[in-house]
Amino acid sequence: MKVLVTGIAGQLGYDVMKRLAALNIEAKGVDYQDFDLTDAQAVMDAVCDYRPDAIVHCAAYTAVDRAEQEPEKCAAVNGMGTLNMVRAALAVDAKLVYISTDYVFNGEGDQPFEVNAPYGAKNVYGLTKAQGEEAVRSLMTRYFIVRTAWVFGLNGHNFVKTMLRLGAERPEVRVVGDQFGSPTYTPDLARLLCDMIQTNKFGVYHATNEGFCSWADFAAEIMRQGDRKCKVTAIPTSDYPTPAKRPANSRLSKACLDNAGFNRLPPWQDALARYMDELKANEA
Ligand SMILES: NC(=O)c1ccc[n+]([C@@H]2O[C@H](COP(=O)([O-])OP(=O)(O)OC[C@H]3O[C@@H](n4cnc5c(N)ncnc54)[C@H](OP(=O)(O)O)[C@@H]3O)[C@@H](O)[C@H]2O)c1
Repeated sequence: MKVLVTGIAGQLGYDVMKRLAALNIEAKGVDYQDFDLTDAQAVMDAVCDYRPDAIVHCAAYTAVDRAEQEPEKCAAVNGMGTLNMVRAALAVDAKLVYISTDYVFNGEGDQPFEVNAPYGAKNVYGLTKAQGEEAVRSLMTRYFIVRTAWVFGLNGHNFVKTMLRLGAERPEVRVVGDQFGSPTYTPDLARLLCDMIQTNKFGVYHATNEGFCSWADFAAEIMRQGDRKCKVTAIPTSDYPTPAKRPANSRLSKACLDNAGFNRLPPWQDALARYMDELKANEA
């Protein structure tokens, strides 16, 4: 089996490549320097040249707040860029994994969203990721749409790294306490994605580490595990205005994984502990 992975200079793509290497699966990783997703011909040429059996499409425009100022650019990458990837996957008959987000939902209520819940994105990024989903669903049958949330990994900026830095600099941080979801460690998600591509259990899935928390809960656990003497004060979203609206409820139901016989990811606290070890090992 040959796998093409996009977005390898980002958090998730980097760990998908590592997992494929550990599984001895032949893979080629690409990012901006190889081709721009918005260039339909370049995407088609690259895919037809490598002729993968599966494509794990991790690349995306992920600057959620900036997207509010440049919606066309965000849509070009997440919507049209994904359509370009779909057309190329169809040309070589490759399976496609499209990574999507909890932000495609309206974030209302306090129950986990099921995979077939209606779209209701509240910001440009979520809207364009839903456009990407639609491009996949409307044209393909051999696809996995995998919605995840609150991603952290070694190769990139994320909430954990920010909290560890602030925790070393300040006696107190104020963190939103009324948005709930599940942190997701990229090596755990990468393991699942690599399990998926070795099957034909196509469909829409949700995949995050197990357990729900608020950003403030997450921050407090990062301070605890990271040995930071920094107080975390939970604040309401209204006290932390951002250009893009964030969903209050990002809980995702993982029943779809059970039904298909895929293993759920471990609890987020366990994932965080392994991430701390990975960060320390990387510093050494
Ligand atoms: N991060 C999260 O919390 C989160 C939550 C839910 C879902 N997701 C989804 O999970 C996936 C992986 O996220 P991540 O955190 O690993 O993202 P990331 O770290 O931002 O990596 C995305 C990669 O895609 C590249 N890229 C952007 N536009 C491109 C273009 N036009 N052509 C080619 N490459 C391009 C980026 O390059 P540059 O850096 O040079 O722009 C970057 O290397 C994405 O699909 C994202 O939407 C992420």
